[in-house]
Amino acid sequence: MTMRNRIEVMHGVNLDQLGRRDPEHYGGLNFDRLEQRIEGFARELGLTARFFQTNSEEEFVEHLHRLHDLADGLVINPGAWTHYSWAIHDALEIAALPAVEVHLSDVDTREAWRHVSVLEEVRAGKVSGKGVEGYREALAMMKQVFGS
Ligand code: DQA
Repeated sequence: MTMRNRIEVMHGVNLDQLGRRDPEHYGGLNFDRLEQRIEGFARELGLTARFFQTNSEEEFVEHLHRLHDLADGLVINPGAWTHYSWAIHDALEIAALPAVEVHLSDVDTREAWRHVSVLEEVRAGKVSGKGVEGYREALAMMKQVFGS
């Protein structure tokens, strides 16, 4: 079997504004720095990370449509879309790649609407409330999925 190590890291709506969002929930990092940290985690784990961010749900879905031969797995933080975008649920199903959902903040202890994830049935795992370290955990989970 060929080695699987290509991870697509996808960020959705408002994540590009990280440095301007409530540091109590999202920490002090800006978005560029977040991506650099994730790239470092991937390297340490022997994975290759490629990055995509958009505030357009249409672009997010179309990117998922294109991924099939370009990535082996996904680390995905769709931001608020997580909680209501059935279009992203369907596109993730179409992509047919293992995916770990990540949230910087602890979505399960915040407002009730953030407790819902429409991705629940189509993702391999979820990490939330661990800040940037959560991405390291998600990448390690991805590695385990590849190993099995
Ligand atoms: C988020 C949590 C979402 O509820 C929120 O809408 C975001 C960011 C997180 O990373 O904690 O934009 O996905």
